[in-house]
Amino acid sequence: MSRSLRIGFFDSGLGGLSVLRHAPTRIAQASYVYVADSAYAPYGDQTIETVRERSFQIARFLLSQEVDAMVIACNTATALAADLIRANVDVPVVAMEPAIKPAMQQSRNHRVVVLATESTLNSERYLNLKNQHAWDGEVIERACHHWVEALEQGDLNDEELFKLVADELRDVRSEAADTYILACTHFPFLREQIARALHDEENIIDPAPAVIEQLARVLQVTPRLISTQPPEFVMYTSGDTEQTTRRVKSLLGLQVEAKPLP
Ligand code: DGL
Repeated sequence: MSRSLRIGFFDSGLGGLSVLRHAPTRIAQASYVYVADSAYAPYGDQTIETVRERSFQIARFLLSQEVDAMVIACNTATALAADLIRANVDVPVVAMEPAIKPAMQQSRNHRVVVLATESTLNSERYLNLKNQHAWDGEVIERACHHWVEALEQGDLNDEELFKLVADELRDVRSEAADTYILACTHFPFLREQIARALHDEENIIDPAPAVIEQLARVLQVTPRLISTQPPEFVMYTSGDTEQTTRRVKSLLGLQVEAKPLP
């Protein structure tokens, strides 16, 4: 019997779990290897060279785990290192993309907000995307400082998290945009707080389901009955394994012992 698919995911930390969580219901019977590079998070604070080097090393590690495909579940690593990885690995690589195109299609007044890291917003890849899909609209950008660290640490209570988010988004509502893009994979874990701060539940776009759909397409996985077994899930981190184990439990409700990244 052929073995089931093995799919690798990585992010600067735990954010990519917001992408991975959509995979098991679409791609049944696969096993997952996830790398959180938490010792280097946030990537937004690292130099371009460091992000490229770390991303490339992690891609090589995932190849050593014999993955059939990998997902760069990080907008910042995608912006800075997707080309390098794609040129050097021989399995399909699926990457994040700020959802400017669907947001522009959905927006009634062609005014959309992108919430991302500074590095993503400054990248050439992002600027090209904006020129291609938003030339006839208005894109309002917010580099959301400290949200990544707050999610990595997990030391703020719900109200403190809400305050952090609301402070950053205070002036966004006056921009009269009607569609919001989560362009950092950590941010879907703050969706509730973001919706509350923006007074809008409906028009927040998380590109993760579309990324998993793309992954299923490149792996030629047609929709099929969902497996009743929980997926096999191995987690590696360059950070603190105990803290990572705790955070995965609190973010996904999964009991997975994180292992140190070799
Ligand atoms: N989850 C990463 C992203 O999607 C966070 C970036 C960072 O670590 O700065 O961009």
